[in-house]
Amino acid sequence: MEFKSKIKTIEWIDNYSRMVDQTVVPYEYKFVNITTGADMFHAIRDMIVRGAPAIGVAGAHGIVLFAQEGAEKFSNRDEFINWLLDKAEYMKTSRPTAVNLMWAVNKQIDIIKNSKSDISGIVEELKSNAIKLEDEDIEINKKIGDFGAEVVPKGATILTHCNAGALATVGYGTALGVVRSAFAKDNTIKVFADETRPRQQGARITTFELAMDGIPVTLITDGMCSYFMKKGMIDMVVVGADRIAANGDTANKIGTYTVAIAAKYHNIPFYIAAPLSTIDTSIKTGDEIPIEERSHEEVTHINGKRICAEGVNIINPGFDVTPHELIAGIITEKGILRPDYNESIAEAFNTHKP
Ligand code: MRU
Repeated sequence: MEFKSKIKTIEWIDNYSRMVDQTVVPYEYKFVNITTGADMFHAIRDMIVRGAPAIGVAGAHGIVLFAQEGAEKFSNRDEFINWLLDKAEYMKTSRPTAVNLMWAVNKQIDIIKNSKSDISGIVEELKSNAIKLEDEDIEINKKIGDFGAEVVPKGATILTHCNAGALATVGYGTALGVVRSAFAKDNTIKVFADETRPRQQGARITTFELAMDGIPVTLITDGMCSYFMKKGMIDMVVVGADRIAANGDTANKIGTYTVAIAAKYHNIPFYIAAPLSTIDTSIKTGDEIPIEERSHEEVTHINGKRICAEGVNIINPGFDVTPHELIAGIITEKGILRPDYNESIAEAFNTHKP
């Protein structure tokens, strides 16, 4: 089955990066061209591009943009390399939680450090690698989708939180990749999408993507999930991930942990769908995952309008960590990893280093 949404969230074109502006979806569906490394930093930080795999590719594009600028600025190869390595470290600080950003920029850093080419050759190698990461992301998501579809019961209603779809990746999606692959086999499946305050990625982006593909979707607010679970209206939960520790603890959009607890209470399987590049084996548990703190205005305002009294205290973590014991499986491009995650993750990395 072919889906209508041939979304390519981010793409390298000639000498710049083109991306869907996700701050305005679904009111507008428009592309922006990012032509400098500094603009890419801001596009990631301000969430013009968002979603762990998509910001990984954006980071890789950002290094190509900086490399192009450096090639104009320097004729000395060592000076070019030192300057570019500094810019790469800076790019990694644009958002702290999704490890795909660090993973993809580190791939570019390896090229910068190990290349034997001259300055223009290094720029070309970085560009080829960025394009390769784009292509691989879609292939990986299709594999994740197909593995995940095997555990979707016939006619299931799947709850998801935030947006782990085509727009959070280069295309197809991780959690929504599972939905797409399952729907291709069984068009009676349905989705419940959590609104996902404060940025409303569920309401704005997940419903937009699914509606475009004709996949039935019901939008609910974040606090409603346990109500529908109790009524027996949710068969499984599938969400994406921003960083997974070696023991399976998983950071994802704030509110995910609440959904996982509710799913456990109601005996509903809770799955993570993510590429192996989202797994950070350098950290043992979720306690070590840095959680992004975002602007207070995301909480105090909706669409530019204040929704609370002036002077109210605000705290706005962008992500939470779901403990591994609440997770039924981690759906990856290498199959579904099951507990004990320390073992299954180590085994997946033994056979395939992302
Ligand atoms: O703040 P965002 O919108 O970048 O957060 C996105 C999420 O939490 C996604 O669920 C996660 O990145 C997985 S995307 C395939």
